[in-house]
Amino acid sequence: MKKSPNLIFHILFLLLLISPSVFSWKKDEFRNCNQTPFCKRARSRKPGSCNLIATEVSISDDGDLIAKLIPKTQENNESQDAPVEVDSKPLLLTVSVYQDGILRLKIDEEQSLNPPKKRFEVPDVILDEFLSKKLYLQRLSEEKIDNDLGFSSVVYLDGDYEGVLRHDPFEVFVRERGNGKRVLSINSNGLFDFEQLREKKEGDDWEERFRSHTDTRPYGPQSISFDVSFFGADIVSGIPEHATSLALKPTSGPGVDGFSEPYRLFNLDVFEYIDESPFGLYGSIPFMISHGKARGSSGFFWLNAAEMQIDVFGTGWNAGQDKIMMPVDEKRIDTLWMSEAGVVDAFFFVGPGPKDVIRQYTSVTGRPAMPQLFSTAYHQCRWNYRDEEDVFDVDSKFDEHDIPYDVLWLDIDHTDGRRYFTWDKVLFPNPEEMQNKLAAKGRHMVTIVDPHIKRDDNYYIHKEASDNGYYIKDASNRDFDGWCWSGSSSYTDMVNPHIRSWWADKFSYGNYVGSTPSLYVWNDMNEPSVFNGPELTMPRDALHFGGIEHRELHNVYGYYFHMATSNGLVKRGNGKDRPFVLSRAFFPGTQRYGAVWTGDNTAEWEHLRVSVPMLLTLGLTGISFSGADVGGFFGNPEPDLLVRWYQLGAYYPFFRAHAHQDTKRREPWLFGERNTELIREAIHTRYMFLPYFYTLFREANMTGTPVIRPLWMEFPAEEETFSNDEAFMVGNSLLVQGVYTQRAKHVSVYLPGEQSWYDLRSGAAYKGGKRHKFEALEDSVPAFQRAGTIIPRKDRFRRSSTQMGTDPYTLVIALNSSKEAEGELYIDDGKSFEFENGAYIHRHFKFSNGKLTSSNAAPSGAGGNRFSTDCTVERIILLGLSPAPKSALIEPANQKVGVQLGPLTIRHGNSPSFLTIRRPNVRIEDDWTIKIL
Ligand SMILES: *[C@@H]1O[C@H](CO)[C@@H](O)[C@H](O)[C@H]1NC(C)=O
Ligand SMILES: *[C@@H]1O[C@H](CO)[C@@H](O)[C@H](O)[C@H]1NC(C)=O
Ligand SMILES: *[C@@H]1O[C@H](CO)[C@@H](O)[C@H](O)[C@H]1NC(C)=O
Repeated sequence: MKKSPNLIFHILFLLLLISPSVFSWKKDEFRNCNQTPFCKRARSRKPGSCNLIATEVSISDDGDLIAKLIPKTQENNESQDAPVEVDSKPLLLTVSVYQDGILRLKIDEEQSLNPPKKRFEVPDVILDEFLSKKLYLQRLSEEKIDNDLGFSSVVYLDGDYEGVLRHDPFEVFVRERGNGKRVLSINSNGLFDFEQLREKKEGDDWEERFRSHTDTRPYGPQSISFDVSFFGADIVSGIPEHATSLALKPTSGPGVDGFSEPYRLFNLDVFEYIDESPFGLYGSIPFMISHGKARGSSGFFWLNAAEMQIDVFGTGWNAGQDKIMMPVDEKRIDTLWMSEAGVVDAFFFVGPGPKDVIRQYTSVTGRPAMPQLFSTAYHQCRWNYRDEEDVFDVDSKFDEHDIPYDVLWLDIDHTDGRRYFTWDKVLFPNPEEMQNKLAAKGRHMVTIVDPHIKRDDNYYIHKEASDNGYYIKDASNRDFDGWCWSGSSSYTDMVNPHIRSWWADKFSYGNYVGSTPSLYVWNDMNEPSVFNGPELTMPRDALHFGGIEHRELHNVYGYYFHMATSNGLVKRGNGKDRPFVLSRAFFPGTQRYGAVWTGDNTAEWEHLRVSVPMLLTLGLTGISFSGADVGGFFGNPEPDLLVRWYQLGAYYPFFRAHAHQDTKRREPWLFGERNTELIREAIHTRYMFLPYFYTLFREANMTGTPVIRPLWMEFPAEEETFSNDEAFMVGNSLLVQGVYTQRAKHVSVYLPGEQSWYDLRSGAAYKGGKRHKFEALEDSVPAFQRAGTIIPRKDRFRRSSTQMGTDPYTLVIALNSSKEAEGELYIDDGKSFEFENGAYIHRHFKFSNGKLTSSNAAPSGAGGNRFSTDCTVERIILLGLSPAPKSALIEPANQKVGVQLGPLTIRHGNSPSFLTIRRPNVRIEDDWTIKIL
């Protein structure tokens, strides 16, 4: 199948949708919705079937809106003290309001009524800082809406929005003040259902069987489901991780040509996953963002770590239902959220712009960590670099071929029998010397550390973990014993803060023998992957610290493992250096601990294509630092595919090549001279743009806005962009379009906006607001700089990013129709946390009235520390300026410099020429202006 021509591929692909069994993906290993009782039950419920009403509505002492949800009966229509059914005690509803227009809705069983067990609420995700931004409600106003007999309670959200709790039927929504237009709502379709915990009665059979596995389910059914509506939405996106389009296709409704399964959120190690599927992959973020031309964006986040399934309804899904409670003429997208356990802890984000929603979401779950500079450069990985000799050979070949790289990675076989934190004594006898040799060239190494611990009494990690009772227990309270890379293995219980701290200590230089300060870490298999477990993971009835069942927290396990590892790397250097840890599993908040990648993809064109919506989705849900394995993990890419993958991957926020052990070697120089040249070009492009990327990582760190963005994030009113996930923006200034077919002759690119775009290679200008057909050039994927922007670059090539520290900058100014442009540059030491005390440089560049001005963009008094650099500007390239000026005057020095025609990049000596100010030699950290004469 791998080498079939494109048409055949598509036919096969269509067949695949009809009969998935033809594919190698082991579908039968995994449950579908029909085999998942809570999902099946929730999906079969009819709109309007929820009979709950809100009573006893009041403001609590904590300044929240509280109410009880009880079933509607004849009696309670009149009186509040009517007897209620045994299995439906009142539920407690709490609405809290936070700054920036955020509404939080919690619904849980009432603890005062002594439910059999306290349901799990996910700790350690919500920031304390967010909690401190709570607004204490003072007043509650009541009103009648839509001919209701009963009341609705209205609370103030912020200047423009209000939250509404409708009593009967129960519904919660956010609306715009003034015009009353709805933004987001829950239970408008009456699909809310909450299975309360109860005592097991004689004859209750709660066990669930799947394949050869039995889930004892000692607490019985406890699922929650409800509908959420996004008003004014043309598209919804988010809820990673699925290998599918950015705008989520409907999964339910009449004539749905999308998927028939809901989007599943259940962290799984899916061997050879297929693209174009709602199937759940390695990580889960129950956060959805909507976007529409009319209103903009809104977002909904459900903090819940149990298995979740989410339906996106197609238009007309509820036609003929008379129980719909909202204005029917309004454009909206309805969704159904179903979870196996936990509580309702939901957040409504009002936007109204896409960047506002992400700011609001990341104010709850945290902004992305600022990475070390080296980790934003190119990474070389393979399962496995065999031994030290192999490492040195690969390392020196990069130099021989003049290809920069920053990090060399070692997979599981570098260890002594897959005991993490150890080295194979024959293959890697001198690990410290090896790391130091690479470090001398400014390079780093990464080793893998997975959560499955080999059950070997001579292995110190196992010894300590089992002696201290640090392992997750099985349903009969023995150390859970499963099969993974290291054979019979157990898994440390990272939910316990004490165990996380013990784990973090394992990374000290003293404990991790053979590690040095240039060594960083990679967490794989942390879903967790258990080869002989149900669906290749941990049984749901396994037990964690505090008696929590695995089913309640499955999706957050990998997050805790990542957190503990990341904390370990901070701890080992006494908190001086920023950590770098790559993780495969993720959860909301992962962005605070490191990078993620999209797991075990395949060397196929469709996997190259789907990498873009997958990474864009991760960025929308807070995880900006992400990448897909360049080249595809499984299979052997044909050279054309590999080259195209490098050309696109050079713009991924996390840029790493990786390959399975069964694949042929594929280091950049193994495909003939021309392909080596093309790959070198692609990697050089990334190094050239490192100052721009690093500035964007800082923007993400400050605001949550991701490094790569859907076009609609920058052009929110342009409908043309809503379903475009073949192209993306890098920051607000670059547009990149992948080439996704073999031997492509042409590429069609939509350039949004009213202003022009400058081709990165030729400098030619193209009109915005238009689709263009370009010849597919061999030497790059189409990429354009937006008119009105200034991009900082470093054009001299070194062995690694760490050797570029003192290199001078090039500024590329792309003028718009008013002959103006602006941009930013952020610099710090690339390594430590000192930037948090003000040790950084943040410049703002503005070109207008024929004058380029560099001014300080750092807030005054931003901490006591200072960062300083001698770096200068060696070239300024001007795009879109005519007539050509003769010279330029630098102020305050009052020095004149020449303006010449020069090439667009140093490397492309023979490309067309552009106006270039050569060697202005102004210092990057100073204030100055350069006036065109
Ligand atoms: C509640 O009371 C109203 C008005 O008295 C009546 O019309 C309605 O049928 C009652 N609903 C139920 C469920 O008893
Ligand atoms: C920015 O990154 C640093 C380092 O990772 C982190 O400590 C800090 O909390 C981040 N900033 C914000 C606003 O979250
Ligand atoms: C041109 O760019 C500048 C700087 O980004 C901006 O302020 C201005 O509005 C732009 N002009 C037009 C016509 O878009």
